[in-house]
Amino acid sequence: MRHQGRNDFTLRLLEAVNIQEGMRVLDVGCATGEVTHLLSEIVGVSGEVIGVDMNEQLLDIAKANNNADNIEYINSDVYQLPDELEPFDVIVGRRILMYLPEAKACLQNLKRFLKPGGILCFQESDAINGGAGAHQLPLHQQAIQRIWDTVAAEGGDIHIGQKLYMMYLNIGIPQPQVIAEALIQTSDDNDLQWLTEMMETRMKQNEIVNQDFSLETFKANMSHEAQEAQAAFIRDMAFGVWGRKE
Ligand SMILES: C[S@@+](CC[C@H](N)C(=O)[O-])C[C@H]1O[C@@H](n2cnc3c(N)ncnc32)[C@H](O)[C@@H]1O
Repeated sequence: MRHQGRNDFTLRLLEAVNIQEGMRVLDVGCATGEVTHLLSEIVGVSGEVIGVDMNEQLLDIAKANNNADNIEYINSDVYQLPDELEPFDVIVGRRILMYLPEAKACLQNLKRFLKPGGILCFQESDAINGGAGAHQLPLHQQAIQRIWDTVAAEGGDIHIGQKLYMMYLNIGIPQPQVIAEALIQTSDDNDLQWLTEMMETRMKQNEIVNQDFSLETFKANMSHEAQEAQAAFIRDMAFGVWGRKE
């Protein structure tokens, strides 16, 4: 069974938001430009997409791998966007608010860069229900927990998904629309070994695992557990929110 792709939920969210050809769109926290590129295809040659990130190395990858004539990448802190930026029809962000210390202040600031009637749209992850269905796979559940514990230890809000509706109301976006979807993975096909490897240093820095944590042993135990019991489980809960500036 193929687990859901990285962009499946994002594409459904962008479709619900009804982004049109010719629109001017901002992608905040664009990183390597994956969402920026999806957006550039939706708005077409008559539209334009600005991708913003404060990490220059990721922007270099974006420029190499996800460029197009209608994309411009800007190196900036999302809290300090250049005032001269022309207003946007849509502002999009994927998995960015969950890492920001002042998510509400960020949204308030971004609203300034929207045209009247412009749309503010975010996709964020929430730890709620993570590992549900994997009761026969305690190591898998522990792996999910460690990932979220690391994000929380770094100051991320691991329950931001549930707060997006109120955040939008609090910044004066009326009638926000919220959708959520469980991302299902299985004992046979999941990203837990890969992601633990990617996050191992951060896990050690934040003492989520001990310094003597062995990735090799962890991987072997995970594979063994997956051979003993099969299960499909909730790996992540994706939340999408959008609403219009009045
Ligand atoms: C988890 S990544 C999400 C990447 C991308 N949106 C995606 O979904 O593929 C979060 C990104 O937000 C960026 N970021 C975090 N805080 C930021 C800030 N204050 N200003 C600009 N970018 C920021 C990070 O550099 C990182 O590239």
